[in-house]
Parts: sequence; C-alpha cells; structure tokens
Amino acid sequence: MTKILLFGKTGQVGWELQRSLAPLGNVIAVDIHSTEYCGDFSNPEGVADTVRRVRPDVIVNAAAHTAVDKAESEPDFALLLNAISVEIIAKEAEKLNAWLVHYSTDYVFPGNGEKPWLETDMTAPLNVYGETKRAGELAVQQNCTKHLIFRTSWVFAGKGNNFAKTMLKLAKERNSLSIINDQFGAPTGAELLADCTAHAIRTALSRPEVGGLYHLVAAGTTTWFDYARLVFDEAEKAGLVLAVENIYPVPTSSYSTPANRPHNSRLNTLKFQQTFNLILPEWEVGVKRMLAELFSMTANRV
Ligand SMILES: NC(=O)c1ccc[n+]([C@@H]2O[C@H](COP(=O)([O-])OP(=O)(O)OC[C@H]3O[C@@H](n4cnc5c(N)ncnc54)[C@H](OP(=O)(O)O)[C@@H]3O)[C@@H](O)[C@H]2O)c1
Repeated sequence: MTKILLFGKTGQVGWELQRSLAPLGNVIAVDIHSTEYCGDFSNPEGVADTVRRVRPDVIVNAAAHTAVDKAESEPDFALLLNAISVEIIAKEAEKLNAWLVHYSTDYVFPGNGEKPWLETDMTAPLNVYGETKRAGELAVQQNCTKHLIFRTSWVFAGKGNNFAKTMLKLAKERNSLSIINDQFGAPTGAELLADCTAHAIRTALSRPEVGGLYHLVAAGTTTWFDYARLVFDEAEKAGLVLAVENIYPVPTSSYSTPANRPHNSRLNTLKFQQTFNLILPEWEVGVKRMLAELFSMTANRV
C-alpha cells in the first residue's frame, strides 16, 4: 500500500488533503503539535527524522509560513519554514526515491502586466514571503528528482478565517466599506487544490514523467472588490441582513501594509489541465459552495 506522509495537516489545504489523500493509501498526517512524529518546520532535523522513520512513498507538504505581512519582520524564520526545512525534507525524499509534493504561490512573480503568468516566466518576488517561497521551490527542484510543485493563489476554505467571512462580518457592522480593486487573481478553494493534488499523485505514481512545476488555480479572474460583491449578493439571496449600503473600489495604494502585494496574480493553468486531463472550474463555483455551507451552518445555529 502507498504510504503518504502529510505535513501541515491542520492548515486550509492540509485539512482538505487529509480527506482527499485517504483513498490513495495509508496517510500519516502531522502538524506542529504532533508528538509521535515531529511536524514542526522550525526544527529541520526533527522533520528530517520524521521522514526517515516513516519511510513514505509520497510526502505532501502543506505546512508553510503564510503570514505575508509578518514575514517582513521575521525573514529568517520565514526562510526556515518555507525553504530550509523544505530542502532537508527534499534531500530525505531523494534518499528514499519518494515523491515530494509542495505548494508555492503567484507571489514569486513581480505582479506587473495583465497576462496570466506561465511556469517558464521569470520570477521576481515583491516581498519576503514570495522570496522564501521561491527559495522553497528551488530547494525542491534541486534536491528531489520526483517532485510536483503547485503554485496557487488566493486560497480559501470553509475552515478557519477567510476573506469572505471577514467581509460578511464587516458588512454586518458597517455602513460603508472600501475594498481593493486593482489586484487581479482567482480565489481557489482548498478543496479543489486537495482533489487536484490527489489526482496528480495518482497519475505521477503510474507516469513519473509528469513530475514538475505547475500553476494550479480556479478558472477566471476577479478583484477583491468584485469577490466581496459576490459574497454580499449571495448573503442577500440567502436572507442575511447586512448593514453595508455603500462599497467603494479603491487602489492598493490606499492601504499601507508591511508587504508589497502584486497587482497581477493571474496564473496560466494550461499545462496542469493538459498534463492531468482535468478541467479547473470557475472561481465562483467554489466560493458559492463555501458560502452555501457557511449560511446553512449559520441557519442551523439559530
Ligand atoms: N493561503 C493562500 O492564500 C495561499 C496562496 C498561495 C499559495 N499558498 C500556499 O499553499 C500552501 C498551503 O497554504 P494554506 O492556505 O493551507 O495556509 P495555512 O492555512 O496558513 O496553512 C499553513 C499551515 O502551516 C502551519 N505552520 C505554521 N508554522 C509551522 C511550523 N513551524 N511547523 C509546521 N507547520 C507550521 C500552520 O499552522 P498554524 O495555523 O497553527 O500557524 C498551518 O496549519 C502553502 O505552501 C502556501 O504558501 C497559500
């Protein structure tokens, strides 16, 4: 039976991977709090030891330092989690001839222009998070022959906090909201990422030549402003009472944040779709599904 070691089991993507990887084999899932096996990426020797003891056929890494603004003030720590530990895991995976599946981000790109980025485009991150994630990609590519790297963007999940929940909370409290309208990307569900990962792993186990770097996001493009509008429309259709009456589109420059963010987060996913013979649904499909679940949970609580 295929043995799969999952790091970062309680993150947005990690949580969904616990479900989607289950039919593929025996999944050993760990996170920062695990006691039997170390899943703490601030302890590179500990996670290397986990790989040596579990001896998996496939390692899936969903753990990361994802706090984009915080990373600006703790670059060494972000590098430790996003690249140094990843390099050590990649070296251990190579010794076992195992697959290493890893996630990265559109933030490796400079965010200019309007064209969806290709896997072959030059990287030039605008912030520490993007730099450390790029270093993590290189660590995987240079140290583990059998790898899959999925660059994604604007990840959301029903579990935990997300942009839609924050917008709903604000829309219940405030009369007017200003929302960024000059960053373009595709909100991508953790469920979709996890399901596509499971399918890609199954393919890679029988056709190792598919290994490599892929862009993996939902289809279509939006802005945070239009994403929020969809959330409010769906909320009203579901009968929620919102206080917000005015929403204003504003440029990124009107919000000062420690980390610079790219304007163009569009990713071209043709390579992924053709290689794995999958169709990536429009971003609204996943967002509406997540909202429907959220609204039904709220209704059940009343
Ligand atoms: N979220 C996005 O919008 C986005 C966009 C593009 C790419 N990605 C990439 O997609 C992947 C999955 O991200 P996600 O959205 O699922 O992020 P997430 O929900 O923030 O999950 C990351 C997980 O890593 C854990 N973690 C933090 N410090 C750790 C440590 N020292 N050792 C081990 N685990 C630690 C976090 O635990 P705590 O929650 O306890 O801190 C969390 O469970 C990451 O590689 C990320 O870079 C995400």
